[in-house]
Amino acid sequence: MSETRKKPDEPKASDKTRAQYETFPYPARDPKDEDQRLVVGSPGNWDEVVHFIFGGHDPSANDKKIKILVAGGGTGDALVMLAQQARDRKAKVEIVYIDLSESSREIAEARIKRRNLEKNVKFVTGSFVDLAGKYGPFDYIDCCGVLHHLPDPDAGLKALADALKPKGGMGLMVYGELGRIGVYHMQEMMDRLSAETGGRKRLNLGKALFDSLPGTNWLKRNPFVNDHIQGGDSGFYDLLLHQQDRAYRVDEVFDFVEKAGLRLQQFIEPMRYDPTTYCSRHDVLDKAVHVPFRKRAALAELMAGNITKHLFYVVKSENKVKPPVPDRNAVPFFVRIDGAALARSVAKTGHIKINFTGLSVTRSLPPASPGILTRINGKRTVGQIYEMFDPRPDKYEFDAQFAVMYSVLNAANLMYLHPER
Ligand SMILES: C[S@@+](CC[C@H](N)C(=O)[O-])C[C@H]1O[C@@H](n2cnc3c(N)ncnc32)[C@H](O)[C@@H]1O
Repeated sequence: MSETRKKPDEPKASDKTRAQYETFPYPARDPKDEDQRLVVGSPGNWDEVVHFIFGGHDPSANDKKIKILVAGGGTGDALVMLAQQARDRKAKVEIVYIDLSESSREIAEARIKRRNLEKNVKFVTGSFVDLAGKYGPFDYIDCCGVLHHLPDPDAGLKALADALKPKGGMGLMVYGELGRIGVYHMQEMMDRLSAETGGRKRLNLGKALFDSLPGTNWLKRNPFVNDHIQGGDSGFYDLLLHQQDRAYRVDEVFDFVEKAGLRLQQFIEPMRYDPTTYCSRHDVLDKAVHVPFRKRAALAELMAGNITKHLFYVVKSENKVKPPVPDRNAVPFFVRIDGAALARSVAKTGHIKINFTGLSVTRSLPPASPGILTRINGKRTVGQIYEMFDPRPDKYEFDAQFAVMYSVLNAANLMYLHPER
């Protein structure tokens, strides 16, 4: 399915953004690679969406048709992942892709065709700020790495919020200011050099400038950004040479979301936004943990220093949905990890090691963890897993150990729950 391609009528700043992504579609992708691998990630991984936005109840279960918008879909990573995951679970979905850039759309379309997924996808060229409402309302909106490039991000988020169904939600990503130290210095240097405003000339000057920077420069010293080194020309341009680009601190993320009539449900990964991840001093934590979520998260961001992107899920502010809790009827399942391998390693060491952008965090897990982990199969409830133990541990002790183990793995985005089906 495809809309007539017409050039959008955008203000100046959007013209520059569109011109950039016409020349350097982002991220660089070759449709042939679809034969080898599926790019997965956050936001938009469906298990994650169901957990954080729909309280563990998949809105596409029982043959119910749902509508998804990928706003600023670029070369198609989230679009392909969402379409493929929908087909794998035999769900009825209609996915609308909107992007300003024709050349990005061509790559996204070729990837979708390569997987024979075109039946459920509608491609639209234009600005989602004008068009989201026309194609909605949506159950889920994915907008990753886009809102911070809009001339008016608040208007962009509001347009998306207005295109959501009352129980719908969004997976968003905006840049984090602290982890990107040096990026904005580079952009300022380009301004001071009166660099060309676009195209290859701008790229060449940017590369020459970057190569000439001394080792003391903040960008050269920042190990947390690497698109300019690993992402080819489009990665270099997107990270360092953008002309419509801003970053957010945690407090600004909350203000941004609340202004649009939304509620921030959770950051990904939750552990990164928790001061106890970074500090074990009780005299500090006594003051740090008994404060609202927003304040804890803002402190954690300052402590960590390595948050380059804020990934988070939002719902409408009046929607009180919460992620499922680890009671006896919940069914735990793994995401992104091999449960059997984790069980073996926890049996040996008693802990799990998690890596977050250059930071390694070790967390001990309770003694029953290996036995629980080997019995998790995505179908058994916590109660059924308990019944499989021989001899059976004390019920309350088992529940407490499950809850501790789950809180660590869920905060690392490695385990979710769904209600018994
Ligand atoms: C950094 S890329 C991100 C692409 C994709 N979301 C991803 O994460 O891989 C930003 C994309 O947003 C698109 N974009 C920017 N402003 C837009 C707008 N107002 N409407 C639609 N697309 C927009 C650009 O054309 C570009 O493809």
